[in-house]
Amino acid sequence: MDYKRRTKIANILIDDNVAVDSDVIILGWVRTVRASKTVTFIEINDGSCMGNIQAVITDPGKFPVLDKVLTGASVRIQGKLSQSQGKEQKYEIVVGSLDLIGQADASYPLQKKRHSFEFLREMAHLRPRTNTFGAVNRIRSKLAFGIHKYFQERGFYYIHTPIISASDCEGAGELFRVSSLDPIHPPIKEGNVDWDADFFATQTFLSVSGQLEAELVASSLGDVYTFGPTFRAENSNTSRHASEFWMIEPEMAWAELDDNMDLAEDFVKWLFRYALDDCADEMAFFGRWIDKEVCQTLEGVINSEFQRLPYSKAIRILEDSKESFEFPVGWGLDLQSEHERYLTEKEFKRPVIVYDYPEEIKPFYMRVNDDGKTVRAMDVLVPKVGEIIGGSQREERYEILKERMLKKGITDFDNYYWYLDIRRWGSVPHSGFGLGFERALMYITGMGNIRDVLPFPRVPRWAKF
Ligand code: 4AD
Ligand code: MG
Repeated sequence: MDYKRRTKIANILIDDNVAVDSDVIILGWVRTVRASKTVTFIEINDGSCMGNIQAVITDPGKFPVLDKVLTGASVRIQGKLSQSQGKEQKYEIVVGSLDLIGQADASYPLQKKRHSFEFLREMAHLRPRTNTFGAVNRIRSKLAFGIHKYFQERGFYYIHTPIISASDCEGAGELFRVSSLDPIHPPIKEGNVDWDADFFATQTFLSVSGQLEAELVASSLGDVYTFGPTFRAENSNTSRHASEFWMIEPEMAWAELDDNMDLAEDFVKWLFRYALDDCADEMAFFGRWIDKEVCQTLEGVINSEFQRLPYSKAIRILEDSKESFEFPVGWGLDLQSEHERYLTEKEFKRPVIVYDYPEEIKPFYMRVNDDGKTVRAMDVLVPKVGEIIGGSQREERYEILKERMLKKGITDFDNYYWYLDIRRWGSVPHSGFGLGFERALMYITGMGNIRDVLPFPRVPRWAKF
C-alpha cells in the first residue's frame, strides 16, 4: 500500500501548506457519517490535530463499501482537496476512492455523544480517539518538548537519574519495593528477610525523586535538570495524586532560595506562555469545552507577580481569617489543600510561594535557617490545583546535614555516604525544585482530575492497561 504517501490532516488544517486541487491520501478514523440519497459526508480524524477533515461523496451509489463505513472504522480515502462549500470548514476532500481498512460495528463504545470522564477511564485503550484525550495527549507531548527547550536554552544539562533507588529522598516511606525474591518463600536470615540475597544485595525501591542524584551531578556540571517518572505508594485517593507521575527537577549549583524562587516563577510563566502560543489548537479546545476561563487564567498568572510569603505569616493569615477550615491551622502543622486554596484564591488571588517551613515537617536535605526552627523550603501554590512545585535550598554544611539526618532517624550513613561526601569536598550552596508535570497540565488544560491528564494513570487499586 502507499501509506507513506499520505497527507496528515494537520498539514492541511494547521500548516495550511497543501494546495487546493491536489490529490491527497487521508488515513484516519471515521468520527461520523451523514448520508442522504445524493450525498454522503464522512468526518475523519487522524490524530495529527484537533480538527477533522470532511470527505464528500456526491455519488454514493458508486461506493458499495459505504454501508460498512461506520463510526470508529479506519479508512483510506483518496481524493481532491477542495475549498469547502460549507461554513463549518475551509477545506474538504472530494472522494475518488474509499477503502475500508479496519471495520467497526455498532458495538464500538465511542459513538457520537459526550461520554463522562469516569466512563472513559474504563476505556483508556480507546479514549485517545476522543477529542479531549487526543488534545491531552498532544499537549503533553508539546509541553514536554517545551520543557526541554526551556532548560536547554538556559544552559541546563539533562541528567538521567536512576529509577531504581536504595534511598528514600522524601523520607515519607511511600516506597514501592523492587525485588526479585520469591514473595512466598523469601530467604530468611536471623528471623528477617535476607535482603543481601536479593538482586541488588540490598533493599531497593522505585524512586520518589531524582533530586539526590541530581545534586551530585549539579555539584560538577552546575545547572542540571531531570524529567522522568516518579513513584509514590501514597494511599491518597484524591484528584491530584497519582502513584506514577512525571516530575521536572532542576538543580542549580551556586544558587540560594531567592534564585530558586526566581527560576520557579520564570519557568511556570514561560510554560504557560508556551502552552498559549505553541499549543493554540489544543488550548482553544480546552477553553471551549473544559474550562471557559482557562486561557484568561493562564494570562493572569503570566502577568502577575507571585506573592512570596514566609510560612509563619501564612499561618497568621489563616488564623486571622474568618474561614472555618476542616483541618486545624497552627505553627508547626502542614498546610492542607484547603489552606493553600484560601491563600491563592481568596487572600492573594494569584500564585503564592510559601517559604521557610518548620524543620519538623520537611525532609532532611533542606538547609536549616539561623533560627534553627525553620528550613529553606518553598512551595509554589496556584489557585484550584494547590501545590505544583516543591523545592528548597539544600543543606550544604556537612556537620549540620549529619545532625539533621540523625534527627530524622537516618542512622545508616553507610547508605548515604555519597550524599554526604559532596559536602566534604568542594561543597557549594545549591538549590532546586520539582514541578509535578501532571499538576501543571491540570492547571493548563483545566482538567479536574489527574487521572485524565495521564494517558494510563496508576492510582491505588488501579493499574489496568
Ligand atoms: O514536593 P515534592 O514531594 O518534592 C520533591 O520530591 C523534591 N525532591 C523535589 C525537588 O526539590 N527536586 O514533589 C514535587 C512536586 C509537587 O509539588 C507536586 O507538583 C508533584 O511533585 N507531586 C505529585 N504529583 C502527582 N501525584 C503525586 N502523588 C505527587 N506528589 C508530588
Ligand atoms: Mg511537596
